[in-house]
Amino acid sequence: MPLSCQDGGRAGWHHAIARGTPVCVAGKLASLRRVTEPESDLAGHPDRLRWNERYGAGFTPSFTPHPLAVAALALDLPAGPVADLASGPSGSALLAAAQGRPVTAVDVSEVALGLLGQEARRRGLDHLITLVHADLGAWRPEPGRYALVLATGFWDPGVFAVAVRAVAPGGVLGWEAFTMAARQARPGLPAEWCLGPGEPATLLPGHMSVVSQEDVPGAPRGTRRRLLARRAGPEVP
Ligand SMILES: C[S@@+](CC[C@H](N)C(=O)[O-])C[C@H]1O[C@@H](n2cnc3c(N)ncnc32)[C@H](O)[C@@H]1O
Repeated sequence: MPLSCQDGGRAGWHHAIARGTPVCVAGKLASLRRVTEPESDLAGHPDRLRWNERYGAGFTPSFTPHPLAVAALALDLPAGPVADLASGPSGSALLAAAQGRPVTAVDVSEVALGLLGQEARRRGLDHLITLVHADLGAWRPEPGRYALVLATGFWDPGVFAVAVRAVAPGGVLGWEAFTMAARQARPGLPAEWCLGPGEPATLLPGHMSVVSQEDVPGAPRGTRRRLLARRAGPEVP
């Protein structure tokens, strides 16, 4: 089972993708100097295969931070790291690192992580970004660790529950995903990838309060909903 190694990579060193950027691969900290086979339990993972193809030859990442990340990072956050879940080649992770925060970027696509790692190194930010190659369905972060947990363009209620637990006291959760309304524009979009009415705010536990939740009508490829929520704690103003 893929495990997080954002806390030090106890399982040891492992070679994988990219060049010179520390990366966690299924629980192992990697010094990434060459491409090798991924962990066997991810090798045939359908999301990995699909997204590796999407991010493959011909794909040019913009590295533009997601608007939700920009908004979240402008909030009053406690000290501490940021987790970017289903990060892709994330401009949001780069923005958080540029603000001096350690960032853990988790994605099932090692191609995406390689692109992010290369850009982080180009910007001199690689020492702040830990890349975790894992299926989020199996990734288990340390509870209460992150000042900001961010996920954009991804939905899974089980992962959401895990992400909520990873938010530090006074910290913030930011999430954006398709709503059921998006299926009108994209009938092939599976219902389980879409937020139901009121979600994800309705799924928050009592110690999390909604900062904002709004639909983003007219979003490319269908309607999306954005949530910012804050965990109660000593850092709450
Ligand atoms: C629509 S992209 C969003 C990327 C980025 N967060 C953004 O907003 O541009 C979805 C991302 O989720 C990742 N992903 C899909 N299924 C996953 C899974 N089971 N575990 C981890 N990452 C996954 C994909 O590799 C891809 O990078």
